[in-house]
Amino acid sequence: MARIHFLTGNEGKLVEAVHHLGPLGHEVVHLSVDGIIEPQADDLETIARSKLEQARAHLPNPDDWLMVEDAGLFVEALDGFPGVYSSYALSTLGNHGLLRLLEHLQSEDLHVEAGLRRAEFKAVAALMTPEGVFIGEGSCLGRIAPAVDGEGGFGFDPVFIPRDLDLAGEPADIGVQGEVSTHGRTFAAVDMDLKGKFSHRTRALADLLTQLGTAE
Ligand code: IMP
Repeated sequence: MARIHFLTGNEGKLVEAVHHLGPLGHEVVHLSVDGIIEPQADDLETIARSKLEQARAHLPNPDDWLMVEDAGLFVEALDGFPGVYSSYALSTLGNHGLLRLLEHLQSEDLHVEAGLRRAEFKAVAALMTPEGVFIGEGSCLGRIAPAVDGEGGFGFDPVFIPRDLDLAGEPADIGVQGEVSTHGRTFAAVDMDLKGKFSHRTRALADLLTQLGTAE
């Protein structure tokens, strides 16, 4: 059991990490470091590892653990864009701008998840311990909605429709009604509890915990 310093500017992420890691006996505390540079890279893991390296000198005790978490929306028809640039794309293009980038797609692709509107939220949770770095990955499959839908959530929630999940929490086959479903609505149109069942972030933390269990 360790003290985990979580490098994040997002209060919601901190609450989520405390929720998952606290019951296992880990103490999660907030770490704020000025001047962290996000490197140019096309995958979340490289960025997360770079942030760990930059922040490690700021740990109060070298035996403490350090965690970062990064996420993004990867759209198939845009070769994975906005991906690692999701925050920037949200503040520049926004949800309407993203939809405009997909306007050229055939109308029959609009509702077909196997088609070009397929997209995925991905998250990486990276943890540095004295034994080494552990990387947890989580994803949420889905598609980009034909139009902005819903008032809730944040980021690209209003344009993302997750694929249904089966009873085990795995993505259901395309075209098959799953046990967990937003019924064609976006993340912004459903409540937080339902969105949480699909969460790429929760899955990344769970993957990390599985690895720690194996490593301890
Ligand atoms: P972060 O690395 O978790 O801060 O995520 C980077 C960006 O990806 C956010 O600013 C959002 O634009 C987008 N994003 C990540 N996760 C989500 C989500 O669950 N819903 C909507 N947008 C998200």
